[in-house]
Amino acid sequence: LTLCSFSFSHQTPKGSCLEAVKTAIDAGYRHIDGAFVYFNEHEVGQAIREKIAEGKIKREDIFYCGKLWNTCHPPELVRPTLEKTLKILQLDYVDLYIIELPMAFKPGDALYPKDENGKFIYHETDLCATWEALEACKDAGLAKSIGVSNFNRRQLEMIMNKPGLKYKPVSNQVECHPYFTQPKLLEFCRQHDIVIVGYSPLGTSRDESWVNVSSPPLLKDPVLNAIGKKYNKTAAQIALRFNVQRGVVVIPKSFNPQRIRENFQIFDFSLTEKEMKEIEALNKNVRYVELLM
Ligand code: A2P
Repeated sequence: LTLCSFSFSHQTPKGSCLEAVKTAIDAGYRHIDGAFVYFNEHEVGQAIREKIAEGKIKREDIFYCGKLWNTCHPPELVRPTLEKTLKILQLDYVDLYIIELPMAFKPGDALYPKDENGKFIYHETDLCATWEALEACKDAGLAKSIGVSNFNRRQLEMIMNKPGLKYKPVSNQVECHPYFTQPKLLEFCRQHDIVIVGYSPLGTSRDESWVNVSSPPLLKDPVLNAIGKKYNKTAAQIALRFNVQRGVVVIPKSFNPQRIRENFQIFDFSLTEKEMKEIEALNKNVRYVELLM
């Protein structure tokens, strides 16, 4: 995987994502984490295509990750869904295509289908069959690599033990930061050569509509700030460096040009073993993103 990355979450004002991705590419980002459900894939694609046209990058320099949404798990929907994403991006392939969540919703136009009592309508599907459809997308050249997201060990094992498995997941994207360090899943994935991609590496935007804000703000942490002082870095940069240094890919989200650049300035210093241990000890084992659905 490439060195650094960038993520987008939830709906964003028109054009802001286009500008953010262009700023990020100029700043050196090459890995862009997106999804159909972020509703800005058209802007991500446009930014990538504009930067290619400018001669700043080539398509092969970019690592774009797209995601299969919960309503599209039935195997026959997988390829058309990826083709729709490619059409929106106006690209020929994604570098990585992942199952966004291990549970399925009822297929249809509603991305969050609910019954008359406001309860999600789930859909019974076989994750192994969904995986086989992803394998076919890789064989067809629509996705260079395939992976998963929000999978626990049991769900990973289900895929890896599937009879006739053709490709194992290259990565598992999960919440990961100093307050939620994922020691057990990280060790399991290391043993099986699965890259952990850490989302919410800065502790999220603390938007109460989807974030558990009872866990304190990560970037206010005294240890992260004290270590930052020593290196003339911010708590955000220390949090990102911590994960990168232990082999976890980070996908910080920012639409602010200054913070986009700040989050990339993490390759000119390293944390000592003692500092890494101190940060590991901050783990509270509490998620910001509970995904109660
Ligand atoms: P903004 O887009 O205004 O920069 P996460 O990646 O953990 O989900 O965190 C994203 C949140 O952190 C966003 O609200 C983003 O806001 C903010 N953020 C991004 N980079 C920084 C930074 N370097 N310092 C402080 N906040 C940041």
